[in-house]
Amino acid sequence: MSAHRIAVIPGDGIGTEVVPEALKVARAAGAQLDTVDYDLGGRRYLATGEVLPDAVLEELRGFDAILLGAIGTPEVPPGVLERGLLLRLRFALDLYVNVRPFRAATSVGAGVPLDLVVVRENTEGTYAGEGGFLRRGTPEEVATQGSVNTRFGVERCIRYAGDLAAGRARRHLSLVHKTNVLGFAGDLWSRTFEAVTAERPELTTTYSHVDAACIHLVEDPGRYDVIVTDNLFGDILTDLAGAVAGGIGRAASANLNPARTGPSMFEPVHGSAPDIAGTATADPTAAVVSAAMMLDFLGEGDIAARIQAAVAATPPEPGRPTAATGDAIATRLAQLPAGRL
Ligand code: IPM
Ligand code: MN
Repeated sequence: MSAHRIAVIPGDGIGTEVVPEALKVARAAGAQLDTVDYDLGGRRYLATGEVLPDAVLEELRGFDAILLGAIGTPEVPPGVLERGLLLRLRFALDLYVNVRPFRAATSVGAGVPLDLVVVRENTEGTYAGEGGFLRRGTPEEVATQGSVNTRFGVERCIRYAGDLAAGRARRHLSLVHKTNVLGFAGDLWSRTFEAVTAERPELTTTYSHVDAACIHLVEDPGRYDVIVTDNLFGDILTDLAGAVAGGIGRAASANLNPARTGPSMFEPVHGSAPDIAGTATADPTAAVVSAAMMLDFLGEGDIAARIQAAVAATPPEPGRPTAATGDAIATRLAQLPAGRL
């Protein structure tokens, strides 16, 4: 097995604390990784004014994958790093789906098992940045913020979600949107959903309005298997799903370019958590699972499955040092039976 070339962006705050644990566990599981660290994020911006130099973006294109910790420090105004770094990478590398799995033996709230995946469209919607100001700063000012929804972008996202659902035991795919109010975008999403799922008779499908989906996620999350939704709804729903599944410290994500025209990027759902940064008590599980998703995407399904099994056997312990959680997961790995799980 030749080593996978991984660009590592630890980023800011707890990002720099959890990423080493993810790499430690990945290597303990047998992954051959050839890593190059990139200093990007708030620290670099405050020191040099650079967010993502073009030359760095071009270098990143040459890797097999990117592992990112978290971006953001309180001293940097909101939007600078989000738009200039994270969203720029998602858009420039055409990471058109954001896959966010959630699993819990007992959900917070309803206390039922949940095992669902949110497939969030990752390059369009309100995140595309359409809009602008008129007369900014005056009493007559106007701000618009549009939502960009292309048939192409929506269809490829729903197709990905359909393929994913077809490979799971329940084969159930739910569209979440707000068709009762967003008559244009919602109409495009539902017609595309109908057309794509009509080609997949093996799937059962449902539709929920996003507000109702929030209630269902808390009260009856077992109803969902794969959810497909737009960029902003996916952002909000996945924070909720993370909380319901036992805490955002365990929620992982894969920003995928399924066409593999460049590297995909793997990152925890959580942010840089400046409130606990430096205490070395952040839960690295989300970063560990993100690394497992990366390995799975790189064709290392067996290694990924071992990491997932070790994580499942290592429940969270509030306040446990970050490195101790990494070690606990690595110890579990070593106790797994040899061979394919
Ligand atoms: C996420 C984050 C980002 C998003 C922010 C940091 C731009 O909240 O990955 O969910 O909104 O997508
Ligand atoms: Mn978010």
